[in-house]
Amino acid sequence: MDGHPLQGRCAIVTGAGHGLGRAFAARLAADGAQVVVADLDRAAGEAAAAELGAAGASAIALATDVGDPASVEAMVAGALGAFGRVDILVNNAAVFQRVPLVDGDFASIPLEHFEHVLRVNVIGMWLCARAVVPDMRRRAYGKVINLSSATVFKGAASTLLQYVTAKSAVLGFTRSLARAVGPDGIRVNCVAPGRTDAAGPGAADAAAARPERLRERAIARVEVPADVVGTVSFLAGPDSDFITGQTIVVDGGAVMH
Ligand SMILES: NC(=O)c1ccc[n+]([C@@H]2O[C@H](COP(=O)([O-])OP(=O)(O)OC[C@H]3O[C@@H](n4cnc5c(N)ncnc54)[C@H](O)[C@@H]3O)[C@@H](O)[C@H]2O)c1
Repeated sequence: MDGHPLQGRCAIVTGAGHGLGRAFAARLAADGAQVVVADLDRAAGEAAAAELGAAGASAIALATDVGDPASVEAMVAGALGAFGRVDILVNNAAVFQRVPLVDGDFASIPLEHFEHVLRVNVIGMWLCARAVVPDMRRRAYGKVINLSSATVFKGAASTLLQYVTAKSAVLGFTRSLARAVGPDGIRVNCVAPGRTDAAGPGAADAAAARPERLRERAIARVEVPADVVGTVSFLAGPDSDFITGQTIVVDGGAVMH
């Protein structure tokens, strides 16, 4: 298991077709896990899984809407069919960038949009957890990792209130689920990244556009996916087996929680 702490494990990463989820999937695969890339964007999910396969990993893509119970059940059935087990769930999919949020004054958020954000970003996590827990219970071991955001500790005055509301709920969901399934050997934790820019040419531009964001960090530089993947790897692996119900902020020390 040296260097491959997740050898023999199977991980589902939702929203792994793009962005942070794609980076999490790559890291868990490098850790030795078999990976299910579950994304609403079928083409992106298939491209991500093909990339992992080309790098020597076992990976499949399953087009999934985490807000749809039937789709989530099909995702887990597909994972069990391919790999026979699910040990790790990374609840990463969200209405955020690829499926964009409606920005603007808090009072102008369309009701249907607010409901959809809660549906995907909160209830979707519950649907996925509910679907994987029976298999984890069978082996009395499992890891659920939920993505929140460091923004929840600061709030956002007038923009993206629906997103911050949903991401705040993820903390309570994490704690309550950790208590509910702890007796079954299932650990549930939360990662709260700061604003993370995709690695590459855009990152410097994005940082330049928001210098105040960098100033508030104790480590005052742009955050990239590589800054977050290690925490997800740690929470997925055996070194964190006595940690549950926790939220780890990964934002360069802007928020100290
Ligand atoms: N990037 C950041 O700055 C940042 C900061 C804090 C927290 N986060 C959180 O990290 C996670 C990933 O963020 P990101 O920047 O990579 O976002 P992103 O928008 O780039 O990626 C989200 C992924 O989820 C997928 N998705 C959307 N709705 C879905 C659904 N209903 N079912 C299945 N898949 C769906 C999208 O297709 C996409 O691949 C999110 O939970 C986000 O809230 C991101």
